[in-house]
Amino acid sequence: MDEDFDRRLLSSLSAAETRSGESIAAELGCSRAAVWKHVETLRGLGIGVEAVAGQGYRLSEPVELLDREALASGLAGDTGRALSSLRIMSTVDSTNEELLRMPPEARHAAAVLAESQTAGRGRRGRHWFSPYARNLYLSLGWRFDRGVGELGCLPLVVALAACDALERAGLAGLVIKWPNDLLLGGKKLGGCLVEVSGDASGPCTAVMGIGINVHMPRATPGSEAIGQAWTDVGSHVTGVSRNAVAASVLEAMLNSMKRYEETGFRPFLERWEARDGLAGRDIVLVTGTGRVCGISRGISERGGLLIENEAGTREHLAGEVSVGAPR
Ligand code: BTN
Repeated sequence: MDEDFDRRLLSSLSAAETRSGESIAAELGCSRAAVWKHVETLRGLGIGVEAVAGQGYRLSEPVELLDREALASGLAGDTGRALSSLRIMSTVDSTNEELLRMPPEARHAAAVLAESQTAGRGRRGRHWFSPYARNLYLSLGWRFDRGVGELGCLPLVVALAACDALERAGLAGLVIKWPNDLLLGGKKLGGCLVEVSGDASGPCTAVMGIGINVHMPRATPGSEAIGQAWTDVGSHVTGVSRNAVAASVLEAMLNSMKRYEETGFRPFLERWEARDGLAGRDIVLVTGTGRVCGISRGISERGGLLIENEAGTREHLAGEVSVGAPR
């Protein structure tokens, strides 16, 4: 796929006016047949391009592509300078994987975003549905002096950063389902995947990936395969900009990394309590060795889930939670 051409073609199309194939071809310096062929490619990516008889092409709805300048202008000066690199890709297998392909020393404070992912990774080996120009797929690398064993709370810090950023974008009522599912009205809005490599005693490098559904219409081809109830930012906030959300999330992540490095998890605990989507609920935690049922009682200082049942209140460091009724 000629990604750059598809991107330029998409930029030249509009939902507000119909443009003739001829004028698009003249602007892009190609034949009308090439325009037609690439319109088909865009349709294959799930972008609605209408052909109006005798007039030309029009987008079924506006599409906002990621844009380096728009994104950079949304980052406060200091935060922008904290980034070592910012890469915006059209299609990639996974933004986490792209960062992991970089040498460890180049990953620190490097950000990778993509319009789409062909092999987006979710937690526990699941696939992350990543349609073109709809959502946010963002990864940030960070080098920590401490070891892998001390970074257990990092996925929670990343989820908190994403929540704060989305709240600034106008989204109210977001909660986190331990360890880092972003939920709105009980439906999944986003998730985080943190992959850490390095020594148990340090240093180590983390690749922190965030996926957020920003503008994903119900009819998005392939979305029927998402195995759970989901929602997107656009269903709750009108006129939200993907570039603004991306900048806000990146800024919150950079700030949180600096803070977490300095203070550890303790100052984040209170914020967690305000976002805890499980507190007081009947839950089932499926671990590698079995199931634990009980009432969710918040988290420990090292980010473990506290579950109370007839055996007392115990900390659990890993597992998949499903929720029952509130108590
Ligand atoms: C989850 O299962 O909830 C975590 C989803 C994480 C998806 C993001 S999208 C950007 C980054 N790249 C990936 O391949 N995965 C993460």
